[in-house]
Amino acid sequence: MGKVRIGLIGLGFMGSTHFRIYEELEDAQIVALADVDPRKRAGDVSSVIGNIGNADNSVPLDMTGIKTYESGYDLINDPDVDVVDICVPTPDHAGLIIAALKAGKHVMAEKPFARDLAQAQEIKAAYKEAKTYLNFGMCVRAWPEYRYAYEQYTAGAYGKLLSATFRRLSPSIAGNNWDDWFMDGKRSGGALLDMHLHDTDQVRYFFGRPKAVTSVGVTGGVSNGGVDHVITFFHYDNGTIVEAEGSWMAPKTTPFEMSFQIICEKATVRWMADGFKVFWNDGRIETPEVEATTGWHKELAYFVDCVKNGITPDKYQDFESVLDGFKMNVAEQESVDTGKRVEIKY
Ligand SMILES: NC(=O)c1ccc[n+]([C@@H]2O[C@H](COP(=O)([O-])OP(=O)(O)OC[C@H]3O[C@@H](n4cnc5c(N)ncnc54)[C@H](O)[C@@H]3O)[C@@H](O)[C@H]2O)c1
Repeated sequence: MGKVRIGLIGLGFMGSTHFRIYEELEDAQIVALADVDPRKRAGDVSSVIGNIGNADNSVPLDMTGIKTYESGYDLINDPDVDVVDICVPTPDHAGLIIAALKAGKHVMAEKPFARDLAQAQEIKAAYKEAKTYLNFGMCVRAWPEYRYAYEQYTAGAYGKLLSATFRRLSPSIAGNNWDDWFMDGKRSGGALLDMHLHDTDQVRYFFGRPKAVTSVGVTGGVSNGGVDHVITFFHYDNGTIVEAEGSWMAPKTTPFEMSFQIICEKATVRWMADGFKVFWNDGRIETPEVEATTGWHKELAYFVDCVKNGITPDKYQDFESVLDGFKMNVAEQESVDTGKRVEIKY
């Protein structure tokens, strides 16, 4: 196989981030782009605003040699496309993922992979029938600091877990995106589903399935009906405290923060304002060296490599554990809505 031919659907914040990464990858070539907005189809990303990263969106993207479509479904039927990469608003993920799998394409789809459980189950059924690869944009699983901590923790280096906390605090993104769709809780699922999902997924990924969740949240703080700030306790049977907080409620001038602290019997690993460090109980303080890159780069480079070389892309994720995380998010929403602890139905 020559270069892996990418068809990208949606050129907003995430689509333009993916676009630039594919441009850097030797084995990838963007051959097609679909977006409902004609300015995006012309490479004009000047309207794109993100809460993390510092791309210069005043410079148009180079669309030379890239076919354009208004509809993602037309792009999916393009025989020159090997991988369909889906970066449109969340409610449209399921239809496009299923159509692309049915068309025999490999699929990289942004998170949340579905908007609700019914869509998640439809995707699961389509994936079961498919012979192609499917990965989701669970970029935090591939983010160097989280990845290092995950590999060390799961190898037993730090000993048994005592407590863990994860935070994802964003400035408000109201007005930043296409049709302001994030501020419509029905479409985005609020900060609970859209952002906090990463940390819920980390909890599942690091520590396995919790039994239940207790969540408190602010609904409609800045959005229309979404949970804009959430704090969740994940209940395990072993006496640990595992907790995560996600928000997009602070003013736009507030810096973005993603951080974690995992306290174990032998050491505490944390990525916080003082940097990425491991504090050993014997007094040593270690500053692990990790690659200066993002989880977005790692996950896309890996997926392209897998498609090119026929390797099953299971390094960062398997469908079932991502689905578990999604079910945990659903339980968190129910807990916020009811004010009660909710047992998670896996
Ligand atoms: N992994 C991450 O870190 C991360 C970060 C941000 C967003 N996301 C996810 O990426 C997805 C896109 O978010 P975003 O921030 O890029 O949104 P955005 O609003 O910035 O971009 C959406 C783009 O899709 C286009 N579009 C809308 N509906 C379309 C359709 N039906 N067909 C084709 N094009 C369509 C819009 O014109 C726009 O260019 C969301 O699911 C979001 O949750 C992931």
